[in-house]
Amino acid sequence: STAPEMIKVEKVGEKKNVALIKLNRPKALNALCDQLMSELSDALRSLDLDTSVGAIVITGSERAFAAGADIKEMTDNEFASTFSGRFLENWTTVSEVKKPVIAAVNGFALGGGNEIAMMCDIIYAGEKARFGQPEIKIGTIPGAGGTQRWVRAAGKSFAMEVCLTGDQVTAQEAKERGIVSKVFPVDQVVGEAVKLGEKIADQSPLIVQMAKEAVNKAYELTLQEGLHFERRLFHATFATKDRKEGMTAFAEKRKPQWESK
Ligand code: CAA
Repeated sequence: STAPEMIKVEKVGEKKNVALIKLNRPKALNALCDQLMSELSDALRSLDLDTSVGAIVITGSERAFAAGADIKEMTDNEFASTFSGRFLENWTTVSEVKKPVIAAVNGFALGGGNEIAMMCDIIYAGEKARFGQPEIKIGTIPGAGGTQRWVRAAGKSFAMEVCLTGDQVTAQEAKERGIVSKVFPVDQVVGEAVKLGEKIADQSPLIVQMAKEAVNKAYELTLQEGLHFERRLFHATFATKDRKEGMTAFAEKRKPQWESK
C-alpha cells in the first residue's frame, strides 16, 4: 500500500515499542474524511499485527485532536446512499484493535473526533482539550458511538446534555466525569501518553490483551456473566508461559522475560 498522507506513524519510546499515530490534516482541523479514516484503519490493523509494538497512541495537533466527520464531504449525502453504502460502518477499527490504544487529546475532540477518542482504551487530555458532540447543531446526531459511550462513561443526565446541546466539555470536567483518566499541560500530554504506552508495553503482550478484553466485557455483559468471563480468562493465564515466568521471576527477585506465549 502507498504511504499515508493524512496520518503520520512512527515508533517511539526508549525501546521503540510504542506506535504513535498523528492525525495530520491540519487545514481541516483533522476532520475525519474517508481517506483519513481508511489510512487510520490500515495503520491500526498492521500495528495490531506488528510484534515490535506493545501499545498504540493516537494524537492530533495542539489545536485539534479531530473536529469530527468531514461535514463538507457529507453535505449532499442522502438516506438511501448512507444506508446502502453503510456510511460510518468502517469507523469501528479503533475499537477492534487487540492491543491497548491510548488517545492523547489536545484541542478539539468533537463529533466523530470525540467518538474516536472514546473508542480508545484510555484518554489523556491536555488542559485546553475540548470534548463534545456538536452534531445536533448541524441537524444530525452522533453516528459513531457518541450517544452510547457518553451514557456508559458519564451517566444519562450528562450524556443528554452533551448530545442535545452540543456544548463543549472542558478537559477538567471530562476528567471529573470519568471520560478522561488524566489531564496534563498541553505540551506534555503526548509524552505522558507515550510513557504510559511504554509502561504497558513492558508487560506480557499476551496477558495485556487478555486484561483489555476482560475490562471491555464490562460494557457488554451482566455482572455475573462478566465475572464468569474474567474468572475463565484468569484460569486461562495458567496455560501460558508468561504467567509461569511472571510468578517465577517474582519469587527469584528478578525481572520477568516475556515471550508472549
Ligand atoms: N468537517 C469539515 N471541515 C471542518 C470541520 C469538519 N468537521 N471542522 C473544521 N473544518 C474546517 C473548517 O471548515 C475550516 O476550513 P476552511 O479554512 O476551508 O474554511 C477549517 O477546518 C478551520 O476551522 P474553523 O475556521 O471553523 O476554525 P475555528 O477555530 O473557528 O472553529 C471548530 C473550530 C469549533 C472546531 C469549528 O471548526 C467547528 O465547529 N467544526 C465542526 C465541528 C462539528 O460539527 N463536528 C461534528 C461533525 S459530524 C460528525 O462527526 C458525525 C459523527 O458522529 C461521526
